[in-house]
Amino acid sequence: MPHKRTKFIDSESSIDAGSRAATIRRRLLAWYDKHQRVMPWRASKGRTPNPYHVLVSEAMLQQTQVATVIPYFNRFMQELPTLRDLAQANEQQVLRLWQGLGYYRRARNLHAAAKMIIDEHDGRVPDTVEALLKLPGIGRYTAGAIASIAHNRPAPILDGNVARVLTRLFLIDKPTDQPNTRDQLWQLAQQLVPKSRPGDFNQSLMELGALICTKANPTCLRCPLAKCCNAFDQGRTDDIPVSPKRKAPVAVHHHILAIQRRGQFLFQQRPETGLWSNMWQLPTLEDQPAKPDAAAIRRYIKNELGLTIADLTNTTHFKHQTTHRTIHFHLLRATAATGRLKRGAGQWRKLIQLDDLPLPNPQRKAVELLNDER
Ligand code: ADE
Repeated sequence: MPHKRTKFIDSESSIDAGSRAATIRRRLLAWYDKHQRVMPWRASKGRTPNPYHVLVSEAMLQQTQVATVIPYFNRFMQELPTLRDLAQANEQQVLRLWQGLGYYRRARNLHAAAKMIIDEHDGRVPDTVEALLKLPGIGRYTAGAIASIAHNRPAPILDGNVARVLTRLFLIDKPTDQPNTRDQLWQLAQQLVPKSRPGDFNQSLMELGALICTKANPTCLRCPLAKCCNAFDQGRTDDIPVSPKRKAPVAVHHHILAIQRRGQFLFQQRPETGLWSNMWQLPTLEDQPAKPDAAAIRRYIKNELGLTIADLTNTTHFKHQTTHRTIHFHLLRATAATGRLKRGAGQWRKLIQLDDLPLPNPQRKAVELLNDER
């Protein structure tokens, strides 16, 4: 059914003759000046922030909310206050500072990007989207964010918040993950971003998406753009944006083995590649049957670790959700009775001596559960 043409736009995606764009920019920037949240990487009004701060914050914010990022960002800057400090840090230190934020590839890419900026850009964060895109871990969104926020370049950005604002503003009722919808949204973002204050404008779009134009129950009555929003005009803010269809996540079972000897537990470093690479964990058998097979676990401990165990108890389990998988972690406890730990099979550690080992979130959770049990 064709929907009513609105008084705001002439075609589905373009902004008519600039006047609507000008209104949107003016209202949004005025709102941002009043309502923006204080964030440690933002500069005070009229100043440009430190590009290193923008680089680190944008890496942290890629999959994580502002409120979670703030304490991580502050700790990061305390330990690694300059780009050069980051470039010279070792990977374990960077991972430890990231521990808890998840998606550790972001930390490794950020570390590699800092080294490249020192080696190839004289230590200055590049100011063009083209040069930024050549750095590891920096895609179109992050390149646009850094170019606009740190260097005042009129580069567009499109993240989840911005996509929601734009689909409602321009009544784009197609699934937002489709390539042609993405193209249309990028074009709109490009047409909207002003030459003056592009970084503030981009952040005002994100901020509106985070504070007002929320996924559920947007507060349109307080929205500076309500008067020029097509979805609001047509009462369709509930069904726009149209969510992408997602496959249901697959359930898998991992068994975490808490093997104890004289008050210490065995920890292992994960392989260099793959998920949670180089981080540490209690020995973990992945992709197992839901019900742990005691004989198979004893065999693994004997053959791979060189230990025999006195007891094996299945204590508790918890879930870890990723985009495509629901991982059920089962925590099993065992006491090593005899045998010598094989070379390279891991290290014995007290649970209070783990500060130097970066642990993935589910492993930290397992350690917390062990602590609770004692
Ligand atoms: N998300 C990503 N970058 C952001 C920024 N600079 N301000 C607020 N939210 C963000």
